[in-house]
Amino acid sequence: MQDNSRPYHELHRPQFHFSPRTGWTNDPNGLVYYEGVYHLFFQHNPESVKWGNMTWGHATSIDLVHWEELDDALHPDALGTIFSGSAVVDWRNISGFGTGSETPLVAFYTSAGSHAPTPCPFTQSIAYSCDRGRTWTKYDGNPVVGHIEGHNRDPKVVWHAPTDRWIMALYLDRNDYMLLGSKNIRDWSPLTKMTLAGVSECPDFFELSVDGNPEDTRWVFWGANGGYRIGRFDGTIFVPETPVLHAERGPNGYAAQTWSDIPDTDGRRIQISWMNGGKYPSMPFNQQMSFPVSLSLKRFGDALRLCRTPVTEIETLYGRQMEYTDQALTDSFIPDTQHNLFDISVSFTPGRARLFGLVVQGHRIECNPEDDTLTAFGRTVPISRVSGRIDLRLLVDRTSVEIFSLEGRLSMSCCFLPEACDVPLEFFATDGVAGLHRLTVRELNSIWT
Ligand code: FRU
Repeated sequence: MQDNSRPYHELHRPQFHFSPRTGWTNDPNGLVYYEGVYHLFFQHNPESVKWGNMTWGHATSIDLVHWEELDDALHPDALGTIFSGSAVVDWRNISGFGTGSETPLVAFYTSAGSHAPTPCPFTQSIAYSCDRGRTWTKYDGNPVVGHIEGHNRDPKVVWHAPTDRWIMALYLDRNDYMLLGSKNIRDWSPLTKMTLAGVSECPDFFELSVDGNPEDTRWVFWGANGGYRIGRFDGTIFVPETPVLHAERGPNGYAAQTWSDIPDTDGRRIQISWMNGGKYPSMPFNQQMSFPVSLSLKRFGDALRLCRTPVTEIETLYGRQMEYTDQALTDSFIPDTQHNLFDISVSFTPGRARLFGLVVQGHRIECNPEDDTLTAFGRTVPISRVSGRIDLRLLVDRTSVEIFSLEGRLSMSCCFLPEACDVPLEFFATDGVAGLHRLTVRELNSIWT
């Protein structure tokens, strides 16, 4: 029940997306899996619901669904406030930070020098933890990467086995990025520079198999707005094979990052993003994360595309389920629910309707069969039919909806404030009959107890 005096039960508190107990958050940081625990660090202002005083907050989960917020992990210091970055498990203790039997976790972050007590340029620093991420020590040789240009920032580090070294993707300035390499985590040398047209901030860089074939892999270079290029990487140079493509088409998906060190036995590359720009009036927190998605590279004809699919762990929240098949959609169809958290799968038959779609908490998500487009939250994107139908998957929380289609090739992260409305969920067709070939509405339980 809603209760503004109880943490996590406030009016606009996301019920199955992570948000900090109090204060502002933006980018997810330091995503690393170690010993059965997913760590989510995040840009945090512990003192205010506005951006500033950037600190790394910390939350953990064993299932990517239920989160427990711990103490903040990294606080501002003489080199600056703590901007975005990443973390890895240093399995072989190459850094030498490991003491005793504990494997060190190493975090990479930007020291935002312009916010330092004595302002200085932005540089890249590291910190390590020898107690499974509970406490962190900043390296006394910081910064490990000096100022290169502009407000260079957001180091994302990945292990590259064939060359036996760490690779850091770093944002430089404008639309420019750099890759750097290191054998020992402390000393970094530049490898190559690249430009991603229309993209800036928060790089991610990772390898994925094509259609699940481990013999056929590509690397993906990703930037904050969801612009990405697919290509090959020999350990020094990234050779793109595509122009900048867009995996995120919604108004509120930003600064996504993937988890490091998920074991091969799981094999997933899991990503979470900041749902940038949501509104949370009178709340003790501000902003929320997306629901985690699993990434894959799929071939569509000759083209490779990155696909995003909500992690299957969402099933742990499934409650009551309603299923409708072959239902004519004339005017309006209202599923029998008063709930407001859903995982919806719908397959529409366009029929002769001029427009069809659904209304979520008073917000219209509509398909136009004339030009095969989908319009939601001010964005219009092309959508294609599969076997003559339009299939959508939607995750609906109190203040957000994530829309997926085309096997995850299309995804849109959208934030909203609920409108006054009589029903939480309604399907519609205008000027003609469409069909609900299949509709599954699953009510979701809250992750907060
Ligand atoms: C992206 C970003 C990063 C920066 C951080 C600061 O949202 O601007 O480039 O490190 O936020 O909070």
